[in-house]
This record gives sequence, structure tokens and C-alpha cells, in this order.
Amino acid sequence: MTLLQGFYKLWNTRQLEQERKHLKMGNAITLTVILILFCGSAYGKRSMLYSVKGLDVVTALAPSASDGICKTLVEIHGYPCEEHTVTTQDGFILGLQRIPGGAAGGTPGNKTPVLLQHGILMDGAVWVMLPPGQSLAFLLADNGFDVWLANARGTESSSGHTSLRPNDPAFWNWSWDELAGFDLPATFQYVHNQTGQQLHYVAHSLGTLTALSAFSKNQLLDMMRSAALIGPVAYMGQITSPVAKVAADVLTGNASFWLGVAEFDPMGDAGRTLINDVCSTPGVDCSDLLTAFTGPNCCLNRSMLGVFLSHGPQSTATKNLIHQSQMIKKGTITMYDYNNEDENKKHYGQPTPPVYDMTHIPNDVPLFLGCGAKDALSDTKDVQLLLDNLKDHVKDKLVVQTIENYAHVDFIFAENVKQIIYDPLIAFVKLH
Ligand SMILES: *[C@@H]1O[C@H](CO)[C@@H](O)[C@H](O)[C@H]1NC(C)=O
Ligand SMILES: *[C@@H]1O[C@H](CO)[C@@H](O)[C@H](O)[C@H]1NC(C)=O
Ligand SMILES: *[C@@H]1O[C@H](CO)[C@@H](O)[C@H](O)[C@H]1NC(C)=O
Ligand SMILES: *[C@@H]1O[C@H](CO)[C@@H](O)[C@H](O)[C@H]1NC(C)=O
Repeated sequence: MTLLQGFYKLWNTRQLEQERKHLKMGNAITLTVILILFCGSAYGKRSMLYSVKGLDVVTALAPSASDGICKTLVEIHGYPCEEHTVTTQDGFILGLQRIPGGAAGGTPGNKTPVLLQHGILMDGAVWVMLPPGQSLAFLLADNGFDVWLANARGTESSSGHTSLRPNDPAFWNWSWDELAGFDLPATFQYVHNQTGQQLHYVAHSLGTLTALSAFSKNQLLDMMRSAALIGPVAYMGQITSPVAKVAADVLTGNASFWLGVAEFDPMGDAGRTLINDVCSTPGVDCSDLLTAFTGPNCCLNRSMLGVFLSHGPQSTATKNLIHQSQMIKKGTITMYDYNNEDENKKHYGQPTPPVYDMTHIPNDVPLFLGCGAKDALSDTKDVQLLLDNLKDHVKDKLVVQTIENYAHVDFIFAENVKQIIYDPLIAFVKLH
């Protein structure tokens, strides 16, 4: 859950502040040039400028999907990479990238698969954005694993469907229930089929919530060796992020409007409207939006934000954001609430949405939790609530690593993330 993370940092940077003074609203050509200079590889992107509370926000629209993640982010570093697709039971065609070996070549075959699942508004690219020697996907490939990058429905790699198109509102008629109930099973099954092996699962943020929910229904586990969850999210009732809390109020307070929005494109009108609504709420300080949203990240390298920008944040379903807003407001983990007994009955056969009961996660699933004490989205109190639910877990099957100065985005982009979290994570994976 790293809403627009790069961009809001950007408009705080002095560099852009200087350039902004020379810009007029809508001067897209000049701005594109600046983005190209600033981002290095943002070549050919449309861009636009808009204003929030008197501050200018720069957005670069992601390029229409052309070259995949393999070509743009993996092969350039000398790693082998394959693009795969799998179709979910509800018709979404998901893209997967496979890095079957290290840059040095090495022996193919019979490697243990590891599946990496990104968080919200991101895609599989987040695991290959740091340089080799630092990105988790490259580190795992160098350590002899067969690495697979998952991409949630609606992201650039996963914008296909057997009958719907992304400009059809019905394409966006889902929340994370469907990510847990359709995307994860299809992805697990595909990797399992291709490799003939059980896999290790590694996830950040929303990818932890979907997995924990599936595990609580005893799903996926027969295809899995272990799960490493960083920035883990289950309960959200006590999150400390002021922006997420106000966004939850905005989205649930005006749900019929927001459901009509269908696709939430963080770089488009939907993103702009939500940020405007949140930042114009009295008492919300959007002067450092990344921090106000994710917590104070200790260790981000500014050049990383340029890399992130050049790939582009990803769309999700607005209904997915509303589902998470319900969790923030209610403090529970249930399926999507239609806020209408009849509608809930129609979908679930009961007047309230079914609960995902975290105490039902089998006690012997090997779990690694990487938590940040400064994380405003995976906050300490909510993580503790999850741990309370796991109190009967077999002791040596549950490893909890708390990083005192980490916030939500540090787990994927911090300069020291290899030593701080990836090295212990890989050691855990090797043990199982
Ligand atoms: C979404 O699905 C629900 C039923 O699950 C349906 O009532 C609604 O009309 C659908 N909305 C769109 C935009 O397809
Ligand atoms: C996995 O293999 C089984 C048996 O061959 C097949 O029925 C199924 O469709 C495959 N599933 C995926 C997701 O590849
Ligand atoms: C819902 O939000 C939109 C976008 O900010 C706004 O135009 C509309 O007036 C709001 N509707 C209500 C009922 O608050
Ligand atoms: C940020 O990362 C880039 C690329 O990896 C590196 O060249 C630069 O030295 C880093 N900046 C700092 C302040 O460490």
C-alpha cells in the first residue's frame, strides 16, 4: 500500500521546486523534458501537472504496456527472464515473470521456486528495481532459486481478460477477496505445475493480507513450503497513517460516487480527486505525503524514486480501496461488505460478510514476519493483534523480525534493505 509514493516525495524536492517556478500549469512539453532529465528513463511518457492545496503535483502516466518487465528491468542486468500467463477462474489473464537463474548462468533445473507478490498500486517490478546485489528477486536468483514475479489483476502485466476490457467498468468489479480467492490460487497452481514443486511465498503489504486470508481458509498451503511476509497487514483498525484514515472516511462516506469510478488509476483523475479530497480535509497535512501515508521511511535513496517513476504506479479497483477502508473503519477482517443485508445475503448467504478468522491459520505453517516499528500501514498494534491470533503457532515455525526505524516503503526500497531484511529472509527460506 504505497499510494503514489514516488510522486509526493517528488514535489517536496528542492530540485523540482526550482523547476516548478518556471512552469505554467499544463505546459506538458516542458514538463516531459524535466521528467526525462529527472527520471533518466521516463522517455516518451505523457505527463501532467496539477495542484493540491496550492502545491503542484507532477504525474507521469505510465506508458501503454509494450515492453514487459523482463525486457525493461531484468534482462538489462544479464539475468535470464521469461514472460508467462495464467488465466484465473473468473477470466483474468495474469502475467508472471520467471527468472530461472542467476546472471552467471548456472545450472538450470530442479531449483526451488519462490513466488514474489507485490503490494497495492505496485506490480512485480518492485522486486527488480534496486540494482543486482540488492533487489530481492536478483538475490534469490543468485542464491539458486527459481524466481517468479506475480502481478495482480489490473496491473500492466495483467490487464487481459477472456471477455472484458479495462475500459469496461465490469473489469474493475473486484476487491482483494478476488485477489485472495482467484489470483493467488491460479498463480500458485501455475508455478506448481510448471516446476513440479512446492513454492516459497514472499509478499509485501496487500500481498500479505491476501495470503493470510487464504491460509485462514486452509487454501494454497498444499502447494507451499513457507511464507515470508514483510510489512504484514491483517487488521487495519489501529493504523497510524493520517492519510489512509482520512482516505477511508472519504471513500466510505461517498461510496456510491467512488464505486462508479471503477478503475482507480493513481496517475489519473481518480488519484487526483482522492488526493484533493483527502488533502483538503481540515487537519490533514499533505506537505510530506509519503511520510503522512506510509510512516517515516528511514532509508530511501532518492534515485530509487526516479526508477519507480519511470515504471509507473499501477491501477487497482476502487472497490478494492473501499474494502480496505471498511477494514480501517471497523477493525475487522471480513469479505467485502455491501452495506446492505439483502445484497450481502445474495453474495454470501448471510446478512453480514463472512470473517477471515486468523486463528484458523494452521499452526505449523512456516511464517517469517518482517515488521517496521515506524510503519504507519502495518502498525505495531495491528501486527500484535495478528500475533495474538497466532499465539498457538509452533514456536520454531514463526519468526518475527522487527526493524526499529523501518516504515512501509523501506521494506522494498531502503538502501540497506539487503542486510536488514533480505539476508535474514533468504536464510529463513533456505531453512525450509
Ligand atoms: C458488480 O457486480 C455486482 C454483483 O456482484 C453487480 O451487482 C454490479 O452491477 C456489478 N457492477 C459492475 C460495474 O459491473
Ligand atoms: C495445472 O495442471 C493441471 C493438470 O495438468 C491442469 O488441469 C490445470 O489446468 C493446471 N493449472 C494451471 C493453473 O496451470
Ligand atoms: C463525492 O465526491 C465527489 C468528488 O470529490 C464530489 O464531486 C461529490 O460532490 C461527492 N458527493 C457527495 C454526496 O459528497
Ligand atoms: C543511490 O543509489 C544510486 C544507484 O544505486 C547510487 O549510485 C547512489 O550512490 C545512491 N545514493 C546514496 C546517497 O547513497
